Amino acid sequence: MAISIYPVNDRFAAEIGDVDLSQPLSQEDRDAIRQAFWKYAVLVFPEQQLTHDQHIGFATLFGPLEVSIKAGRSDAGKLRIREDLADVSNLDHNNQPWGEKSRQRMFQLGNRLWHTDSSFRHVPAGASLLYGRTVAPIGGHTEFADLRAAWDALPEATRRRIQDLLVEHSIFVSRAKIGYTEFSDEERAELPPVKQVLVRTIPESGRRSLYLASHAGHVIGLPPEESQRLLEELMAHATQRQFVYTHRWRANDLVMWDNRCTMHRGTEFDDLRWKRDVQRATVSDIGNSVETARRTAAPLAA
Ligand code: OGA
Ligand code: MN
Repeated sequence: MAISIYPVNDRFAAEIGDVDLSQPLSQEDRDAIRQAFWKYAVLVFPEQQLTHDQHIGFATLFGPLEVSIKAGRSDAGKLRIREDLADVSNLDHNNQPWGEKSRQRMFQLGNRLWHTDSSFRHVPAGASLLYGRTVAPIGGHTEFADLRAAWDALPEATRRRIQDLLVEHSIFVSRAKIGYTEFSDEERAELPPVKQVLVRTIPESGRRSLYLASHAGHVIGLPPEESQRLLEELMAHATQRQFVYTHRWRANDLVMWDNRCTMHRGTEFDDLRWKRDVQRATVSDIGNSVETARRTAAPLAA
């Protein structure tokens, strides 16, 4: 039986039914899922029962996995789950809600700011696949913003003004925004700022998209105040209600999104009280956005 697609709106976010991701998928189903992913950018697969291997196995259909960063993990040797999954839960290695002042908590509260995964890495994340094993009874939703629709809605003059700009991204920019700056020199040296384009074209759909995140610190070549104003304006524009889908988690949902053309953020919940066990497999993009844009923009040989 072929998969079923239930779009949330006709160009953004869809629920996918009649598929069991714990089983090998037919070529036809894989193709249909890929096409839906490129069209809707956020896909929800309800009622999945996945082992870690099955979660990862499905993710690798979309490309090679990214290894998660050390800075936010409780501490080396005490990981709650395997290293090739990002632990996005609020749990410590004893499966209890984290401490109020724990480093893990301070670090992950950054996920409540609008962002796209790993734009602070030279090669950022392509797809992220977040699996909800246990979800919060109140709050703890994940919101997604469609940055293609946000681009489409910009005035022509703004598009022209911003289309060739480059932006410096750093994880320490988003963490500083929540007041967290306690990183060692070694940690800072491991994740130096990287350049990304501000506007990109998604090859599979041909659609243009903003590429924004709370990790974005500075627009290259603009004076600091102008850079800050521009980034704030674009963030406010892109996260208007009409571009946003809110995912209300049910246990065993697998939600995947395209980091190249969406932003997301977690919403508040009582994280000192409820357990929210969500785990992410992250697929790398094919390259740094500045480098891939240059390649695509290269003039054709005569
Ligand atoms: C993530 C993330 C937000 C959430 O997994 O990359 O930002 O709602 N998650 O857990
Ligand atoms: Mn994220």
